[in-house]
Amino acid sequence: MSENRSFFSHETLEKNVGWLIICTIVVVSIAGLVQIVPLFFQHSTTEPDPGIKPYSALRLMGRDIYIREGCVGCHSQQIRTLQAETERYGHYSTAGESVYDHPFLWGSKRTGPDLARVGGRYSDDWQRIHLRNPRDVVPESVMPAYPWLERTVLPTHDVQARMHALRRLGVPYTDDEIAKAPAELEGKTEEDALVAYLQGLGINKRNVRVDTAVAGGQPAKE
Ligand code: HEC
Repeated sequence: MSENRSFFSHETLEKNVGWLIICTIVVVSIAGLVQIVPLFFQHSTTEPDPGIKPYSALRLMGRDIYIREGCVGCHSQQIRTLQAETERYGHYSTAGESVYDHPFLWGSKRTGPDLARVGGRYSDDWQRIHLRNPRDVVPESVMPAYPWLERTVLPTHDVQARMHALRRLGVPYTDDEIAKAPAELEGKTEEDALVAYLQGLGINKRNVRVDTAVAGGQPAKE
């Protein structure tokens, strides 16, 4: 080893595991920030896609029931840019579709099909029968039944607080929309709300053809 080895030589790092760990963390952190921070400012990730609006009061309550019942544990809402996915489900998901989702419900487990574009695929009646007992419409289904949703009336007292909280996170609800929210929920059941939520999922891109370059050669069948 040379006598006058500088402290800033590579050898210092290679022979001192403490410094190696610290410098690795610094490098990986900077590299991570370089990748992640621009996403906070890019329009493609921060601006809503055409047709994406904040959830109506009813759909918002439906979304919260979807979260409460753990539907995300069996259903993703994230169509990948693979041909097999786009042929089955439709246009792949984009970041601009999720800008009003707090928290997002992309999910990672698919015991059941992806639901990102399930809106309008079935009638409201089909959705209701399916929620009350999935086996009535899909005999081989392993999805649990949710019969109480039909019998449970939606609470109206906290919807405004929910909308105010989302407004703080950047969802542009107007004072008027928040003021009218309880009336919109009057007399509705949890099932009404969940069906409204499901029927709006992904309809903004229902008839948009897939960009073939990204999807790998074949446009989605509509
Ligand atoms: C234990 C896993 C599981 C849970 C939890 C679950 N599902 Fe399912 N879901 C399935 C399976 C499996 C299917 C496919 C068979 C069928 O259609 O019933 C399915 C199908 C569906 C479909 C039809 C999708 C299509 O494209 O055909 C909808 C809509 C749906 N589920 C909504 C929900 C909602 C809403 C919840 C929460 C209230 C929920 N699921 C909870 C497993 C689950």
